[in-house]
Amino acid sequence: MKKITIAIDGFSSCGKSTMAKDLAREIGYIYIDSGAMYRAVTLYSIENGIFQNDRIDTEKLKNLIKDIHISFRLNPETGRPDTYLNGVNVENKIRTMEVSSCVSPIATLDFVREAMVTQQQEMGKAKGIVMDGRDIGTTVFPDAELKIFVTATPEIRAQRRYDELKAKGEEASFDEILENVKQRDYIDQNREVSPLRKASDALLLDNSDLTISQQKEWLAEQFERVIKEKN
Ligand code: CDP
Ligand code: CDP
Repeated sequence: MKKITIAIDGFSSCGKSTMAKDLAREIGYIYIDSGAMYRAVTLYSIENGIFQNDRIDTEKLKNLIKDIHISFRLNPETGRPDTYLNGVNVENKIRTMEVSSCVSPIATLDFVREAMVTQQQEMGKAKGIVMDGRDIGTTVFPDAELKIFVTATPEIRAQRRYDELKAKGEEASFDEILENVKQRDYIDQNREVSPLRKASDALLLDNSDLTISQQKEWLAEQFERVIKEKN
């Protein structure tokens, strides 16, 4: 059976990685969370004094970007890939509010995007990959056979993120999360390089009123349809 490339883009916290991970596991494809890569660069920038007091030392980051190695390894306990930054598991560290509030400015930098896109294209060169992010269907894999663009209202997305943090036992403020979601949406849509937008050939999914299992079922149907057409 010929493998395909699946690109899942959309707004922050709308369920992209949940659906991408589940589908990849079911069909035996590789799953890559491209947002985790931008988050890892952000964590590196915070830890190395590149991102300080709302300022990014772009020259320093430009010089160090080649030293930032990001990889993914399956966590046997969760059955999902964890993110590694220069060999260290940073899966939990990259999900904090601090990283969430610094990541979008880092992701506007052209040399950061260039470095990430090159790595992402390398990861997907043999197809059989599900990648989620903001520019996967438009820039990383413009020829992907299946492209999905996911959206939901900001309030619903913030509520989902709030519930998720609460379930992990983390302190969270709904208002702070909603503000972060809106701010990232704005920066992601308005940056110069690869802004967040729906590829013309992407299928639009508004999952505001869908459960996780309903969206999973919808995605599986789209996959079945495309894979039949391609084989
Ligand atoms: O999961 P969540 O919606 O919180 O975001 P994410 O997928 O972890 O991505 C974090 C941030 O990285 C986004 O808000 C974007 O600023 C940036 N990003 C990007 O610019 N391009 C991508 N392909 C993926 C993420
Ligand atoms: O990857 P992205 O930032 O788009 O979102 P996610 O991390 O997959 O999902 C954010 C949260 O929303 C997770 O806690 C999901 O379980 C939850 N979710 C939901 O409650 N209902 C959906 N239809 C989709 C996701």
